[in-house]
Amino acid sequence: MIELKDVYKTYTRKGISNEALKGIQLKVEKGDIFGVIGYSGAGKSTLIRLVNYLERPTKGQVFVEGHDLGAYSVKELRAAKKNIGMIFQHFNLLESKKVFDNVAIPLVLLKKNKNEIRERVLELLKFVGLGDKAGSYPSELSGGQKQRVGIARALASNPSILLCDEATSALDPQTTRSILQLLKQINAEYNITVMIITHEMSVIQEICNKVAVMEEGRIIEQGSVLEVFGHPKHPTTQNFVKTVIQNSITNSVLKSLKTEPGSQLYKLELVGQCASEPIIYQMIRSYDVKVNILFANMTEIQETTLGKMIIQLNGEATEVNNALSFLKNNGVGVEGVEKHVFNYSYS
Ligand SMILES: Nc1ncnc2c1ncn2[C@@H]1O[C@H](COP(=O)(O)OP(=O)(O)OP(=O)(O)O)[C@@H](O)[C@H]1O
Ligand SMILES: [Mg+2]
Repeated sequence: MIELKDVYKTYTRKGISNEALKGIQLKVEKGDIFGVIGYSGAGKSTLIRLVNYLERPTKGQVFVEGHDLGAYSVKELRAAKKNIGMIFQHFNLLESKKVFDNVAIPLVLLKKNKNEIRERVLELLKFVGLGDKAGSYPSELSGGQKQRVGIARALASNPSILLCDEATSALDPQTTRSILQLLKQINAEYNITVMIITHEMSVIQEICNKVAVMEEGRIIEQGSVLEVFGHPKHPTTQNFVKTVIQNSITNSVLKSLKTEPGSQLYKLELVGQCASEPIIYQMIRSYDVKVNILFANMTEIQETTLGKMIIQLNGEATEVNNALSFLKNNGVGVEGVEKHVFNYSYS
């Protein structure tokens, strides 16, 4: 659907070069809600601007629906761009035009007739929940409503791809949620592939099925959201994941933690079905081990429950080993950890 092959982008201004993208390899499949996350300056906006050819790569190729955008003529490129809608952080609406006319812009440019435009615009406004705002001006709308107008405008030409650059960054958490739900609906009902740029991991958690993490012009990690959230490898990814899934003992618990002789700390990971079974209870009933639960957290990602737990186990070595085998045989991820790791790091 969208593929970037070894893409580089260097901006040169007044003799000074700035390498914004350095060898990007990326594949977005049809129907994905693909998130790209990274800190400011990582190159996220540059990347998304290459996908709709607002920028050209310095090196490498960008394919959309199997076509190399670099090989297109100006005319072909114009036609290809109709297939890609985009929404922005600050909505980019024309303040002097009514909501109706803002949404109609792409259709006017496509030289559609008046009746067709009217029908399509009203249908879109209804879809985004603004059926009664056609005659309002952008200044009379809330931020969330303005973004809905932006979305309606982006959908006007029936694109198969929707690009969103920080589309919810100017909105409060509740409005963000409603806009994300709308994007999810667009993806499901119209089968539109969505690419989302953000610096908020909660946005990725809420709607994406795949994620790429960017740093200094490179993709440092990518994969399914469940995989990346469950096992973040790169320290930057771990920092992002930490903002939505805590996986560490609090300082006060750590301070009061008694290191009894023979006791050991374990991190447990419970994914899907095993997160809803009373596995810890069964372990305590079946084995002569003392269990101290120091931390527990459950998160839902891609409609799958991801449970994280940190426990302290104490008992005879054979009993402890049997208890750990019981957990592993029931699909629980088990990793022994030392107390000191919680003093400074996340893993
Ligand atoms: N038009 C431009 N001319 C020169 N340099 C640019 C241009 N656009 C971006 N850059 C530089 O490229 C790098 C990546 O910028 P980009 O806007 O892609 O980052 P970003 O990840 O979107 O950041 P943010 O989260 O702040 O929006 C930065 O160092 C930036 O200064
Ligand atoms: Mg940006």
